[in-house]
Amino acid sequence: MTQFTKNDLAYFGGPKAIPERDDSLFHWPIVTDEDIAAVRDVLVAGNMSGTGITKEFEKEFAQWNGARFALGCCNGTASLTAAMWACGVGAGDEVICPSLTYWATCASALQLGATVNFADADPVSLCIDPNDIEHRISKQTKAIVVVHYCGTPVDMDPIMEIARRHGIKVLEDVSHAVGSLYKGRKCGTLGDIAGMSMMAGKAFAIGEAGMVLTNNRELFERCIAFGHYERTGAPSRFNPPDAQITMPSLLPYIGLPLGGVKHRMNQTCAAMGRVQLKYYQERIEEIDRTMNWFMDRIEAEIPGLIGHRPTTPGSTNGGWYVPCCHYDPAAFGGCSAGLFSDLIRAEGMHCVNGINNPLHLHPYFHTADIFHQGCPTALAFGQRDVRQGEGACPVTEAVTDRTIQVPWFKHCRKEEIEKYVAGFVKVATFVRENPGFIAEK
Ligand SMILES: Cc1ncc(COP(=O)(O)O)c(C=O)c1O
Repeated sequence: MTQFTKNDLAYFGGPKAIPERDDSLFHWPIVTDEDIAAVRDVLVAGNMSGTGITKEFEKEFAQWNGARFALGCCNGTASLTAAMWACGVGAGDEVICPSLTYWATCASALQLGATVNFADADPVSLCIDPNDIEHRISKQTKAIVVVHYCGTPVDMDPIMEIARRHGIKVLEDVSHAVGSLYKGRKCGTLGDIAGMSMMAGKAFAIGEAGMVLTNNRELFERCIAFGHYERTGAPSRFNPPDAQITMPSLLPYIGLPLGGVKHRMNQTCAAMGRVQLKYYQERIEEIDRTMNWFMDRIEAEIPGLIGHRPTTPGSTNGGWYVPCCHYDPAAFGGCSAGLFSDLIRAEGMHCVNGINNPLHLHPYFHTADIFHQGCPTALAFGQRDVRQGEGACPVTEAVTDRTIQVPWFKHCRKEEIEKYVAGFVKVATFVRENPGFIAEK
């Protein structure tokens, strides 16, 4: 095995593994003249606030996923809030949600008067641990919110079985996983309803946009009623009257959104979404091929790094949003994930340790008095006190020390990517051969 000294590491002034990064290997989303023309047409027609193009996009997106209904929203947060309300979450209620996720998966539960009972992550998938759910269910539990984390599908079968047995809904957050498959079925069609982000940094990236997906007509209509007042039959300057609401309980409220919010998607995003969708499958297949090949190479060369990817047959990691590896410090002479990442970054490659910080420890869910009620909002509507402190979700709490993010390649240029592998091997070999090494320039 090759020996490396400090002088070989870019961190200490040695030659970089990637002296000049070719950004075309990473650039995303791929925007062509077709996207630009579609967006320009919306602008020229002054059609940003219409819904005609959005409805076409919804139809195509629903069909591609194999779902009955899709509803375009202004962002992912809005789609998830509406979906949560559609599931019946209200004052005094609880939702169960993984602590390892972005805040928008569940923060709006507090806005609805509910609270969040956080579950830990499975150490391999990094998604909610199906074994950490059932004991959290109470009479107040209205929904289990799951997140297909960093594109890897949640183990849905046991979760759906628990939810059905207790008569509660399952909401999927598909923000990281548009196009991911769980046992051959698209993420977002496995639970009762799904919400997802389509903001510019995601795998399916069309600006500030989001989407609800469901097979359930009632949940679909409730999402419309929550934030799409012009789609309840009300006339408008931008859109013809449109009566998508049929549920008697919602009919009296036509013309005003029950959420008091406006969730309509900007049609520049919808127009871009229609173009992006045409090429998305082909593009994520290239990413999937590339990232699997990269992970195979890393695992073959570097014991102690394991690619975060699906392990269930028939399951895939759609567009590989935030690709990462499990990191075992013991395999690297005790080198922390943070220091390892610093050394890799110095070589000219993207790498940071950790992904999201544990939500169950954030003061938002402990002490924030958002509505000036004189007590934490997490308790202010008659919720059970389900707040949890340090040690409650050990897998989630360890993620910053046990994972590293790796470059997100968009194209299968193996010769170029092999240089990245070599950079990882150089750093990994050096720290392994220098146990207890402390980075001092
Ligand atoms: C898991 C997850 N859920 C929800 C959101 C919120 O979506 P948006 O930013 O489009 O509101 C994001 C990211 O932005 C996310 O990563």
